[in-house]
Amino acid sequence: MPHTTAALLSTPATAAALAFSSRHNLCRGGRIPPPPPPPSFSALFCCQSPDFHNSSSLFSSMESFWTGRGIMKNKAMVELLLTYGVVRSKKVAQVMEQVDRALFVPEGSPPYVDSPMPIGYNATISAPHMHASCLELLTNHLQPGMHALDVGSGTGYLTACFAMMVGPQGRAVGVEHIPELVATSIQNIEKSAAAPLLKGGALSVHTGDGRLGWPEHAPYDAIHVGAAAPEIPKPLLEQLKPGGRMVIPVGNIFQDLKVVDKQLDGSISVRNESSVRYVPLTSRDAQLRGF
Ligand SMILES: C[S@@+](CC[C@H](N)C(=O)[O-])C[C@H]1O[C@@H](n2cnc3c(N)ncnc32)[C@H](O)[C@@H]1O
Repeated sequence: MPHTTAALLSTPATAAALAFSSRHNLCRGGRIPPPPPPPSFSALFCCQSPDFHNSSSLFSSMESFWTGRGIMKNKAMVELLLTYGVVRSKKVAQVMEQVDRALFVPEGSPPYVDSPMPIGYNATISAPHMHASCLELLTNHLQPGMHALDVGSGTGYLTACFAMMVGPQGRAVGVEHIPELVATSIQNIEKSAAAPLLKGGALSVHTGDGRLGWPEHAPYDAIHVGAAAPEIPKPLLEQLKPGGRMVIPVGNIFQDLKVVDKQLDGSISVRNESSVRYVPLTSRDAQLRGF
């Protein structure tokens, strides 16, 4: 049975998790705490959570399914995500195994810790569980031949995953407004399993304001937004294909990961998947203030 927010907040483990999360600023691209881990893993956030697969949770939010640097291999990270039930489909497991996260985190950062990591320019690479969750939510809209847009593509990790899923007949487009991150993301992708798709033109990353989408390759079957918008940007709704799905964090301090479905008749339905914390989808100037 799902726990209430009040009940969760009353457990010492939850309080500790929240205190840790706010002290360590781990709240970028994360969600509610996990079920207890297998005994061999140390997890600071081990309180019982609401059923996050079913989560229209009011509970805000954390963040790490495991901590510590003990996970040394991408495959082991994916296996943990499977253990925790964050990865549920073969397709998502496969693509996360193929696209090694280590190629996308800055040198010196532990690649397989379940936490967002700074990538410079007041931006982060999202936590592995958040990448996995978004891939699971979009998996039916990332079939071979489909078009996918990754707004706020940062390191290029998810854009690469999208490209692998939609394949050479499809289109994966990243839009990021920091040109230096675009350049780094292209270098990252060139080292990854998605390199041939970049070379062949099925994958591209562009510098631009992602709030405007990328009309050239619209309409999109799948749109992922990797930063929190105050509201759903209209151009993104317009560029979503009938039958398509967008996953987007919306809000300021309190944010919900929203799943936006455009029906075949063009009508829109929106539901809250979970409470999350992302960096804002904003202007370049606002993001770089104080950097
Ligand atoms: C949490 S990071 C996620 C990056 C990516 N999903 C990853 O894991 O590498 C959010 C990204 O959104 C970018 N961003 C914020 N506002 C944007 C905007 N208006 N247009 C394009 N990118 C934006 C930031 O620069 C940052 O790279």
